[in-house]
Amino acid sequence: MPPLHRTSCPDRHPPHGMTDHTTGPGASVRQPTPATTPGRAAGDQHPSSVAQPVPMPGGVPLVGHVLSLAASPLSFFERLGRFGPIVEIRLGRRRVWVLTDAELVRRVLVTDQGCFDKGGLLNEKIRIVAGNGLLTCSGQSHALQRPPLQPAFQHARLADHSKVMRDAALALTDDWLPGQTVDLGTEMRRLTAEVTARALITAPEGREAAQQIARSLPDILHGLYWRMLMPGRLFPRLPLPVNRRFDRESQRVRQSLNQVVEHYRTHPVAHTDMLATVISANAGHPTPGQAVYDQVVTFLMAGVETTAATIVWAQRMIGAHPHIAARLRRELHTVLDGALPDHEHLSALKFTRQILTETLRLYPPGWFLTRTAATDTALGETHVPAGTEILFSPYALHRNARVFPRPHTFDPDRWHPSRVTIQQRQGFFAFGAGRRKCIGDAFGMAAATLALAVINSRWNLRHPAAPHEAPLPRTVLMPPSTPVYVHPAASARA
Ligand code: HEM
Repeated sequence: MPPLHRTSCPDRHPPHGMTDHTTGPGASVRQPTPATTPGRAAGDQHPSSVAQPVPMPGGVPLVGHVLSLAASPLSFFERLGRFGPIVEIRLGRRRVWVLTDAELVRRVLVTDQGCFDKGGLLNEKIRIVAGNGLLTCSGQSHALQRPPLQPAFQHARLADHSKVMRDAALALTDDWLPGQTVDLGTEMRRLTAEVTARALITAPEGREAAQQIARSLPDILHGLYWRMLMPGRLFPRLPLPVNRRFDRESQRVRQSLNQVVEHYRTHPVAHTDMLATVISANAGHPTPGQAVYDQVVTFLMAGVETTAATIVWAQRMIGAHPHIAARLRRELHTVLDGALPDHEHLSALKFTRQILTETLRLYPPGWFLTRTAATDTALGETHVPAGTEILFSPYALHRNARVFPRPHTFDPDRWHPSRVTIQQRQGFFAFGAGRRKCIGDAFGMAAATLALAVINSRWNLRHPAAPHEAPLPRTVLMPPSTPVYVHPAASARA
């Protein structure tokens, strides 16, 4: 066993994230019983202190575990929990430590966050497209980038964005015809692309640019997915349709953005949208045009597919659980009382929110996240050398029966304030945790809540396909194709 060598992290937080202001779901929580610690039940078979990571058996020479990971990534990560809290896998020549214990993940993200930086497989690939934006930048750059961007996501701005979200959902669903079949995935991606683009650029002069971004985004995200899958630098240069569309649409977004940025610069009126915040945050940057582009692409990449996938998964769950659909309708009827959903309804739509949180537990769009040890440190009794690649899967962690009893059951009531436990709150990583926690969490939740409110107060969606098909683990955990028949809801007909 190597000597336990630990460099103290620059900014250690008290254990268990008790001062983590980036709280998980559930405003008030039941305290754990004295016999347990967060993420761990008494009699747990894996003590959190181990000397060495457990090597995952079954590695193949040269490729390691790549084949079993590629064959079935979700069950691969679910299985790893059986081997121990830290499991070493091999991906080609890379050795990666997979954390299977929520408490250790909280150490990496919150308690010892100064010892771990963004890095690893996922980050390297996203950087190809999103450059040095907020999602992928290193800790040092992040400390400079995040504070000036935070105002764009403040509560007061969210009220303005909510109206845009609601109106976009109304406009989209107004085009539905009774009895029509719509592809919910395509519809929700259109909705969230439109909502994010319009929150980015609110000035009337930027309307065309916002629409262009929303139009270009599907091809950019599709191209990004392939670039993430294909190793090496050759793929992006191949004259394939996917690459041509990616290049063409990226160029269009760049041109539209340049025009609107130029307009904001030459007409310095008080713009308060996200773009204005991004422009002023990068005023002193050596290449401000590239920095603004990186940040805008980051917001779009991080915000559009994630929120769309969440809404589609939630509708699938609502479709598969008629008693939950009935309760949702009752809540919408009582809270909205015939009015259009708006920002002030959000806090009262408690059950709608519980549905979304439970959806994010079972189907977290960010189904695996990566970090790199920035310094020699320790996790429990395990020495972690600087440079160690760390990976964890919120999808697998959220299905740990010790933290979430009956983990495969869709049960929105587990997030009711009378039932939610501190272990559950701290074992929920759909938005990450710590200082790299999702900056758009409230934005995404508001957009998804308003979309569910608009859809379910006006329409009944019938799912012709069995709603329990397997998720598609892409850059985001995507639902399978979701065609639905749309019928006006009884209250909408009245
Ligand atoms: C349901 C919707 C969403 C989910 C599930 C989600 C999930 C996440 C997760 C898991 C992270 C942390 C990644 C890590 O620790 O490595 C993250 C970060 C981030 N998200 Fe979201 N996200 C959502 C919506 C949004 C929206 C709407 C936006 C912007 C409009 C956004 C922008 C970002 C950005 C910029 C970061 C990087 C934050 C930082 O490092 O400081 N996200 N998101």
